[in-house]
Amino acid sequence: MSLVFRQLFESESSTYTYILADSVTKEAIIIDPVKETLERDMSLLEEMHLKLKYILETHVHADHITSAGTLKEKTKAKIVLGVGTGLETADVLLEDNETLSFGSHKIKAIRTPGHTNGCTSYYIDGYVFTGDALLIRGCGRTDFQEGSAETLYKSVKGRLFLLPKDTLVYPGHDYQGRTCSSIAEEMQSNPRLRISVSEGDFIEIMNNLKLEKPKKIDVAVPANLKHGL
Ligand code: FE2
Repeated sequence: MSLVFRQLFESESSTYTYILADSVTKEAIIIDPVKETLERDMSLLEEMHLKLKYILETHVHADHITSAGTLKEKTKAKIVLGVGTGLETADVLLEDNETLSFGSHKIKAIRTPGHTNGCTSYYIDGYVFTGDALLIRGCGRTDFQEGSAETLYKSVKGRLFLLPKDTLVYPGHDYQGRTCSSIAEEMQSNPRLRISVSEGDFIEIMNNLKLEKPKKIDVAVPANLKHGL
C-alpha cells in the first residue's frame, strides 16, 4: 500500500509544506500549510484526487501565517496540533506517541518542545517531519515563544536521535536549498546538536545567536492562534 509524498516550498518564509496520502483510498494529510500558497496546495490536492482528512501543524509559527483555517473551511479537514500548544480551538490535540490514521497509514506524534512548548514532530514509515525542532545542520531558535535550549536539547537527543538512524528528516524550513537529511547525518554533522556537543555547549550556542526578531512575529503568532483566520 504505497504512500504518496510531496514536499512543497514557500519562498518568502522558506517554509516546507508536506502532503502525504494513501494511494488507494486517496485520504490525505497536509503538514504546515502556508497562507501564501493555499491556491497551489488546493490545486495539487484536486489534481491528485486527494481527500484532505487532517491539517497538521508542527507548532504555532512565528514567521508565516498558516492556511489551516481556510483549508478547513474549504475541505472540512480537521486541524491537528500537539497537546503542548494548549490550542483548544484545534479539532485534535495529539498526545505524545498518539497516532492518526489516513487510509492504511498511521502517523505518530512525538513531543519535541524547546523551540516552542507545543512543538511536535510527526513520524511515519521512515520519515520524520521535525518542524523547527531539528533543521538540516541547525535547529529552531529558542529565544521567544516559551523557547528553551535545555528542553530542545532533550527533545532532539532524547527523542529524535533515538529514531532509526536511516530515518529521513524533513524539516519545517531550509534557507540554503537543502530538502532532506537523515538522523544519522544530523547526529554526525549538525554543528549545534551532533553527538559530541554537550548540553552546556548547546545552551551556550543558543544563548549567543543574537538573532533579530522574526519580521512577522507580531502578526503571525496572533493569527496562527486562530489557525490563520
Ligand atoms: Fe517556528
